[in-house]
Amino acid sequence: MKNKIERIKEDVLDALKKIKNLEALDVFEFKYMSRKGEFAAVMKNIASLSSNEKREIGMTLNNTKRELLKSFEFIKKTLSLENTDSKFVDMTLLGEDRNKGSMHPITIIQNELESLFASMGFMVLDGPELESDFYNFEALNIPEYHPARDMQDTFYVNRGGEDSKTNLVMRTHTSPMQIRAMQKYGAPLRCVIPGRVFRNEAVDANHDSNFYQIEGLMIDKDISLANLLSVLKTMLSGIFKTDVKVRVRPGYFPFVEPGLEVDISCTVCSGNGCPSCKHSGWLEMIGAGMVHPNVLKHGGIDPEKYSGFAFGLGIDRLVMMRYEIDDIRLFHSGDLRFLKQF
Ligand code: PHE
Repeated sequence: MKNKIERIKEDVLDALKKIKNLEALDVFEFKYMSRKGEFAAVMKNIASLSSNEKREIGMTLNNTKRELLKSFEFIKKTLSLENTDSKFVDMTLLGEDRNKGSMHPITIIQNELESLFASMGFMVLDGPELESDFYNFEALNIPEYHPARDMQDTFYVNRGGEDSKTNLVMRTHTSPMQIRAMQKYGAPLRCVIPGRVFRNEAVDANHDSNFYQIEGLMIDKDISLANLLSVLKTMLSGIFKTDVKVRVRPGYFPFVEPGLEVDISCTVCSGNGCPSCKHSGWLEMIGAGMVHPNVLKHGGIDPEKYSGFAFGLGIDRLVMMRYEIDDIRLFHSGDLRFLKQF
């Protein structure tokens, strides 16, 4: 009996060594290791042995099986590895369709604006969304009693102090970084500041309680409105890829003098009049002007030596015109049907 077991073991090891692929291994497994295999047959014979023999043969049998199983598992593992390595890959098959992410349209235009301004020598700066009273109002020529605050009194964050000046406010307009930039870099200075603005608005298709901004500031010797208009026109034709007509009206902002509202000819109807421009052919787009001497002083710049221009606008508006989007609420909706189009 022992001899028989030994013989089977030799046979099995021989057979194992010859196996070259997983199919042959399956056949092998069935022949030797399954319940119908050769070992099982030997097992059956044990019943007729004396109890001493049973113990001895049983032990030999179990040891042999364990040994063979180890070799078997080893060969199986090796073959499986070889199998995946040499697997034929058909490069002509269609791949799995995966959902690809895409850039938000506001990000696309913000990136374009940043590289456009960088190409004109402007730094791109980042500023806080939660601003102090000083940078948001005071330093921009909007003291505590100023009526312009009423239009912008919006999301205040009360820090518990008696004095309203210690309160913080979610940036209510595009300009607070002007002062921080002047303080940090001095003159001459060229920078743009993308970011977010928060307003207490009744939300509808054209207004949202927060929007993305781009603010621009240029300070140097002999800067004039001509420089401002040239930079704005370069920005607009860069974004709309065509020459855009602009119209300049006087506008009031406490931190510029003179102050301007810059309208652009409606890109939807080329200025002929349509619902997008309320049939006027023009769209209000940009607040701008020459930096007020008080503001320069707050920024630590001598208004006798330097002058500068500033402008601010909502990127959302630019995006709506560029892609003909008629509802501002889509931007924050998270609606994939909208987002996947970009
Ligand atoms: N800060 C103004 C706003 O948010 C825009 C502006 C910027 C106006 C610079 C003049 C100069 O509406």
